[in-house]
Amino acid sequence: MSSSVSVANENGVAVVTIDNPPVNALSFHVRKPLHEALAALRDDPAASAIVIACAGRTFVAGADITEFGKPVEQPELRAIIVLLETFPKPTVAAIHGTALGGGLELALGCHFRVADRSARLGLPEVKLGLLPGGGGTVRLPRLVGAAKALGMIVSGTPISAGEAKAAGLADAVFDGDLLAQAVRFANEMADRGGPFVPVRDRNDRLAGTDLAAFDAQAAELARKARGLEAPLTCAEAVRNAITLPFDEALAAERQLFLKLVSGDQSQAQRHLFFAEREAAKIPGKDLQKRRIDRVGVIGAGTMGGGIAMAFANGGLPVTLLETSEEALRRGLATIEKNYTVSVSRGSLTDEARQQRLGLFKGSTDYADLADCDLIIEAVFEDMAVKREVFGKLDAIARPGAILATNTSYLDVDAIAASTSRPGDVLGMHFFSPANVMKLLEIVRAEKTAPEVLATITDLARRIGKVAVVVGVCHGFVGNRMLSARGAENEALLLEGAAPCQVDKTFTDFGWPMGPFQMGDLAGLDIGWRNRRARGQTAVIADTLCEQGHFGQKTGRGWYRYENGSREPIADSEVEALIRAKAAELGIAPRAIGADEIIERTLYPLVNEGAKILAEGIAARASDIDVVWVNGYGFPIGKGGPMFWAGLEGAGTIVERLEYWHGQTGRAIFEPAPVLRRFAETGSWDEAGGAR
Ligand SMILES: NC(=O)c1ccc[n+]([C@@H]2O[C@H](COP(=O)([O-])OP(=O)(O)OC[C@H]3O[C@@H](n4cnc5c(N)ncnc54)[C@H](O)[C@@H]3O)[C@@H](O)[C@H]2O)c1
Repeated sequence: MSSSVSVANENGVAVVTIDNPPVNALSFHVRKPLHEALAALRDDPAASAIVIACAGRTFVAGADITEFGKPVEQPELRAIIVLLETFPKPTVAAIHGTALGGGLELALGCHFRVADRSARLGLPEVKLGLLPGGGGTVRLPRLVGAAKALGMIVSGTPISAGEAKAAGLADAVFDGDLLAQAVRFANEMADRGGPFVPVRDRNDRLAGTDLAAFDAQAAELARKARGLEAPLTCAEAVRNAITLPFDEALAAERQLFLKLVSGDQSQAQRHLFFAEREAAKIPGKDLQKRRIDRVGVIGAGTMGGGIAMAFANGGLPVTLLETSEEALRRGLATIEKNYTVSVSRGSLTDEARQQRLGLFKGSTDYADLADCDLIIEAVFEDMAVKREVFGKLDAIARPGAILATNTSYLDVDAIAASTSRPGDVLGMHFFSPANVMKLLEIVRAEKTAPEVLATITDLARRIGKVAVVVGVCHGFVGNRMLSARGAENEALLLEGAAPCQVDKTFTDFGWPMGPFQMGDLAGLDIGWRNRRARGQTAVIADTLCEQGHFGQKTGRGWYRYENGSREPIADSEVEALIRAKAAELGIAPRAIGADEIIERTLYPLVNEGAKILAEGIAARASDIDVVWVNGYGFPIGKGGPMFWAGLEGAGTIVERLEYWHGQTGRAIFEPAPVLRRFAETGSWDEAGGAR
């Protein structure tokens, strides 16, 4: 017997224990001894029943995803399940922690499932662009019905043990010693006697399925899938479970799984899964962290309020500072309103709302920040104001407190220099709305101490953020690349494209919205103010702003919005304005295709990413992908801009950038040397991006 699987006899029941830390993944070195152990136990008269359990903190939490895309070493999970289904004596899965993916499929191969009350059960494969490929789509519906199974498989969200019991997935839920109770349960089942019907043969639940209602549910899911294949394929597999005999549906599931696993989308989603874990690996991550028990936030505007909520949601007390009682009251009222909306939507209990509101302390006096372990400023984007704030913080913050700026663009080294403790200063660039958006760019300034970086990276995880460490430059990774993406927007319009046409190219690509819709949502006045501060102009956007068209908040921007609706309506006056400006500049309109729009927006995005890598502003290409998927809505099925560059063909990107560089002479099109090397080597690491 290997160390990964052991067998013990407890009161005549064979307890098979899987021990493969940290999450008991079904790696080859588990599957092989598990299959051998079960094969030996099947006809062993000394065992009247079998319990499959796990050591450590959880039941099997999934397949070993490092094995995906590689030749599978036998036995596969499916063979283990087939073997289990031939058992003449009862088999029981004893579930604690989480039974996820292949783990739940293994449990579905047993006659019975018993669970600890705190356990969670689910099939999250869809989140990796896959479907449960070990019979999950065919067996789960037989226990919980097609509609429930579809919901679970397409959302990928696990359910509680209690819900599993109510749905028919778990046969018993236990408090206390799970193993002892699982053994007792197994003995009772053995005493009761067979025949023990495997899940594959339990057809009653499916027989009454309303196929029309199922199809309607699947169509609704398809509408929300926004170009992702996996949710639709999951629905197809569950439908097969209803309409085809078990073995045919199982074979079809296999084919659908193979199609997904070799497709670009799943590769992209698996790339992102690893990329997020990789992003957490920073130099100094094992250093002793500083304690963060209370957070101070300066500025209770759009960002400050959201940042304060993000910490309160993570259970941390927050002191919120404003310049006046009036501004403070407004900020706190917005926070209270946001929580009340969550309660009315059912996403928060009233008790949790009260508890979170209880974590806020408002102040207009800097001295009240003296007991904070971390202080984040979210005041106006103005270097003089920021330096003044940091000067004051330097005077009152306790020694060892971490001082952070939420600046979008400004030089964090210069901000740090306005204190006597630049080692304690860094950027924490949240995204709006900060209590919702997952991304946090952690900006490492020149003098930021390694343990400060490590502390904030840990803290980000504590409040549920996906953190990426970036270096100092104008706009860091995200906003700097966003500028490159949008640099040609006005030129495209002047040359003949309409805002809705550009936006449609983006949504067809898989973005939640295009750049003009995004501008209207964020407010066109923000860019206008930035341009004026930097002495820049944008011929059409400036004119719109001069006319008071700031986007959704004024009901007009690139689009029209009627009666407070967020639905953009193409605005013929804006289109006439564009044509008039083009005529003034002597630009004749021409037809512009989707390919050209992508070449002039997304190719510069990739190119800027390559420059960022070369400068060491991002440590890895995959960090850039994490930023773009979590902060800007880059479609997950394409894996982020740097991964997508490989799918698109870096050679093509270089060639088309050269073409546009020749046409326009604009620097954003000049291919970065790292991008050229990527085109030659196919690897960002080899291209010289990784340090
Ligand atoms: N809005 C966004 O989408 C976004 C996203 C990321 C980062 N940021 C950055 O966050 C910062 C704040 O932006 P915002 O959109 O929340 O602005 P905002 O205008 O909504 O809020 C700024 C708040 O700071 C307060 N304030 C100004 N000076 C202060 C001082 N000296 N002491 C205390 N409070 C002061 C103001 O009263 C105001 O309530 C900026 O640096 C901005 O670049 C904004």
